[in-house]
Amino acid sequence: MRSLSIVEVVLLIGIVACAALGTAVAGDDEEMCVPMGIITLEPPDSVEAKRAAVEFQHGRHFILACNTCHHTWEGAEPITGCMTAGCHDLDTLPRKEDAKAIDKEQAFRYYKNAYHGQCIGCHKSMKEEIQKMASTLTGMDGKLPTTGPTGCIGCHPKE
Ligand code: HEC
Ligand code: HEC
Ligand code: HEC
Repeated sequence: MRSLSIVEVVLLIGIVACAALGTAVAGDDEEMCVPMGIITLEPPDSVEAKRAAVEFQHGRHFILACNTCHHTWEGAEPITGCMTAGCHDLDTLPRKEDAKAIDKEQAFRYYKNAYHGQCIGCHKSMKEEIQKMASTLTGMDGKLPTTGPTGCIGCHPKE
């Protein structure tokens, strides 16, 4: 389906900004609570974190269509979390008994691959695109549009 703008989303389902940031309570089908500020992204309880949790600025990303990230969302039902059962719900990379490579879909059930693939993937490709256009863009105000971090500490700050 085509991408939905935030205006259309508001019209479709009626968005309620959450009072407590990071806690999103999906109500009935008519109402959805959308965290507008920072969502702290952490590994599942079974993983001993090697890196600091990611302070994800959800609202700063609303320049993008919601279903860029919430890619299974069709616009009428409440949005569910990334690690929902059957989605990116594995805490380790699945192993295969035979020597064959793990297929892509399996690899993305590992939550870390899913996050890194989507988060770093977009920041990287946007940076590349902008650098390609840099010669045409400079001369405006000399500044290039900002993209997200691609280095580790840009997302996992040093503790
Ligand atoms: C750049 C990616 C990205 C974009 C764009 C984005 N979100 Fe999110 N959103 C996330 C992530 C990551 C989470 C945290 C999910 C989790 O905790 O599993 C989240 C969480 C949520 C939640 C809470 C889900 C839950 O766990 O109950 C809602 C609701 C939500 N987003 C709505 C929206 C809406 C509406 C838009 C468009 C205006 C939007 N999001 C745009 C990445 C994004
Ligand atoms: C489809 C593209 C896209 C995806 C997916 C995406 N981002 Fe971003 N991100 C951006 C852009 C564009 C900016 C710059 C926004 C700005 O400067 O306002 C940004 C900025 C950021 C920043 C810097 C915010 C700041 O204060 O300067 C962080 C941190 C970040 N993203 C983390 C994440 C994480 C974590 C995810 C995955 C859950 C993610 N991003 C997914 C496009 C994306
Ligand atoms: C654009 C944001 C972003 C960047 C850049 C990024 N990560 Fe992550 N990373 C995440 C998110 C989101 C998660 C899932 C939440 C979590 O587990 O903290 C994650 C999870 C992890 C995890 C699993 C959880 C843990 O703490 O053990 C490791 C390890 C990790 N990242 C290491 C790295 C390393 C090393 C780099 C640099 C090469 C890096 N990350 C760069 C966003 C990012």
